[in-house]
Amino acid sequence: MKMEEGLTMKLLIVGSGGREHAIAQSAAKSPKVDKIYCAPGNAGIGQIAECVPIGAMEFDKLASFAKEQAIDFTIIGMDDPLVGGIVDVFESQGLRVFGPRKNAAILEGSKAFSKDLMKKYHIPTAAYETFDDPAKALAYLETAKMPIVLKADGLALGKGVLICSTLEEAKAGVKEIMEDKKFGSAGNHMVVEEFMTGREVSVLSFVDGKTIKIMSSAQDHKRAQDGDQGLNTGGMGTFSPSPFYTQEVDEFCQKYIYQPTVDAMAAEGRPFTGIIFFGLMLTEEGPKVLEYNARFGDPEAQVVLPRMKNDMIEVMEACVDGRLSEVDLQFEDNAAVCVVLASEGYPVAYEKNFPIRGLERFEAEEGYYCFHAGTAKKDGEIVTNGGRVLGVTAKGADLKEARANAYQATEWVQFDNKYMRHDIGKAIDEA
Ligand code: AMP
Ligand code: GLY
Repeated sequence: MKMEEGLTMKLLIVGSGGREHAIAQSAAKSPKVDKIYCAPGNAGIGQIAECVPIGAMEFDKLASFAKEQAIDFTIIGMDDPLVGGIVDVFESQGLRVFGPRKNAAILEGSKAFSKDLMKKYHIPTAAYETFDDPAKALAYLETAKMPIVLKADGLALGKGVLICSTLEEAKAGVKEIMEDKKFGSAGNHMVVEEFMTGREVSVLSFVDGKTIKIMSSAQDHKRAQDGDQGLNTGGMGTFSPSPFYTQEVDEFCQKYIYQPTVDAMAAEGRPFTGIIFFGLMLTEEGPKVLEYNARFGDPEAQVVLPRMKNDMIEVMEACVDGRLSEVDLQFEDNAAVCVVLASEGYPVAYEKNFPIRGLERFEAEEGYYCFHAGTAKKDGEIVTNGGRVLGVTAKGADLKEARANAYQATEWVQFDNKYMRHDIGKAIDEA
């Protein structure tokens, strides 16, 4: 027990993936934190936190737990509870919580909202139209330029985006989203968007309602197979920083994207406190916003947080207290790469419950991390329990060294049906 005054914080983290493992690991480094709970957590998080079997959408149960355990601070890792209003429930019960309220989490929860916001406040993004009537969407597509992008309005596990190269595909897409409701009620409204080309960069930021501080950039690899082939996934690997995120790009985004977004939310009466994740496309006409998320990226958090020099809890408290302007956010001058070890067949169908061996090696190696995503404990053994199983992460002096280290570390762990991409960070060679 850390008995000094102020150093006895009890923390609750809501979520169960690799991102929440990375958040828990950063929290555990904070000298202020004495005890961490995670709901529902996973087997890896269970090594540094006490996992509590309450689901992330069980707001009342979570708030009751936080009161019973006298939790000082709660961090919401996932999008669904944020969009559903978990922060409002906690705040209404006098609990300190890090994340946007429901009226601000809509920045991620509705693509139509975020597109309209960008249009109103002149924040660069792809040209678009929104529809709630499939017949009107179809009529619009008849005259639109291909390829074109269709997006279900609401949350769809990152999968509600269809890139259509022909009119026939686009028509079939409207049917899938709006009529067959492939992404559920997320498809009641749809955004039809101009197709953009360029490099993608993920930029995470801390926001306190007024001030925004940008973290080191990252790049995700969303497709399941090497060479960006196969289906879209939650993310197969990341690197940080992105060599394509130059000072010039940063200056543009600071001026036209980051602060304008925070100011726009405040002007709309929806002040945003928490993490804004900017999904950017670096187009020939300059950086444009692909999407906003209202939480850390997964697996972006796995490469960004281990490089952060600040005490993450102090930064989050500064956001909640509206004094982020006092924080000097600093990152190590190195690089990190995360390679996701998945179950063969992800994101469609895969088997679970295979024992995982070799995890102990990570405890002994400085600068290497094995973040658990889909794991569980069964008969005292850690087994696979999801599509994305582990996020093997390594630091290095530069991106190439970090990549070599991360791929070497993927060999340390073994489980049946282990699958990974072999080209995470290949773009580094083109920088
Ligand atoms: P989103 O969920 O909006 O980030 O979309 C998922 C992925 O679809 C993005 O990471 C991009 O690779 C791609 N995408 C989304 N919108 C566009 C667009 N307007 N043009 C080209 N690609 C896009
Ligand atoms: N890695 C992308 C996301 O978290 O949405």
